[in-house]
Amino acid sequence: MKYNFDKAVVRCQTGSVKWDLAEDLFGMKGLLPMWVADMDFEAPKPVVDALEARVKHGIYGYTACMPSYYEAIMDWEKKRHGWNINREWIVFSPGVVPALSMLIQAFSSPGDKVILQLPVYYPFMDAVVNNKRRVLNNPLKLINGKYRMDFEDLEKKAVDPRAKLLILCSPHNPVGRVWTEKELATLGNICIENNILIVSDEIHCDLILKGYRHVPFASISGEFLANSVTCTSPSKTFNLAGLHVSNVIIADTKKRHNFSSKLKANGIIGPNAFGTVALEAAYRHGEEWLEQVLEYIQSNLEFLKKFVTGKIPQVRVIEPEATYLVWLDFRELGLGKKELQDLIRRKAGVALDDGYIFGDAEGAGFERINIACPGSILEEGLKRIEKALINL
Ligand SMILES: Cc1ncc(COP(=O)(O)O)c(C=O)c1O
Repeated sequence: MKYNFDKAVVRCQTGSVKWDLAEDLFGMKGLLPMWVADMDFEAPKPVVDALEARVKHGIYGYTACMPSYYEAIMDWEKKRHGWNINREWIVFSPGVVPALSMLIQAFSSPGDKVILQLPVYYPFMDAVVNNKRRVLNNPLKLINGKYRMDFEDLEKKAVDPRAKLLILCSPHNPVGRVWTEKELATLGNICIENNILIVSDEIHCDLILKGYRHVPFASISGEFLANSVTCTSPSKTFNLAGLHVSNVIIADTKKRHNFSSKLKANGIIGPNAFGTVALEAAYRHGEEWLEQVLEYIQSNLEFLKKFVTGKIPQVRVIEPEATYLVWLDFRELGLGKKELQDLIRRKAGVALDDGYIFGDAEGAGFERINIACPGSILEEGLKRIEKALINL
């Protein structure tokens, strides 16, 4: 079937973080919400149908992940990313963010260091700090408009005996990079040499734009498989974040038991009744929707690039290779971080994620915009920014 992503669905009064909390969180009325990573699109029809059928059953008792749940994940990984995983490697988690905290608890001790590559999805930093570990920053380098890993710096930092984990964002939020196999291999080898476990957050792995290919870190070699943990979820791919379903793939038995014991210690015994249904329907029957949504995101991206180049050339677009999140460089305006925030929020009336939350030094002067919305909303948001810049 042909989906209509131009349709603007009213999300207010649904408890939507993006729409219903914007006023409180940003301290202003009437903002156009283009922040937080979920889409303003209805989920694939097979998912909605499966959930409707489950709702109609009327009994929502304790729920388990059945064999068909695991098979759907295995088939999806194989089909989309060419990665063969075993059933027993998969551990359910009610979200990637909670999984990250529990992985930190399982594989490091208070005072240890966790390597992050800033600017990066800010809950990585929260997970480290909230668990009383320290962030060891291996910042990305922006070279000729493209972000790259700094391996020289990583080699120096990885020798720190307190460095126990590296959380990899692959593809990377917010800079949109799809790491190449070569980049991943270099990173993986440095970590193995220094006995650092890689936690590869691959939540955005299905949202790959034209011309790029996602390589699951653990699929590169047996050594990498043994020295890594991979987080996946259908939540970004199919817009299901509110259903709290994700999976952690751990091939090494000892490591898997270690993580599973943390889940138990935190009282997490199983999924909710709807998350599993949605995951199976999405992985089994959602591909047609995914192909169409990717095309729509690609066309929104083309629109944004054209708009920015033609109408607000002071702003530079960091070309994303994946995700529906675009990292915009406002540094040419020479504004301080609060001045830029004021420009976007108060003067333009748009809710974006301020760059500095992804890294104080690395993100200052940037804003992250979410383009998984109807083209009309994207156009309105960009026009508001254009107007604010004219009046600057
Ligand atoms: C890199 C990354 N990891 C994790 C998450 C959130 O995961 P979850 O909703 O499963 O906790 C996001 C959401 O934007 C993300 O970008």
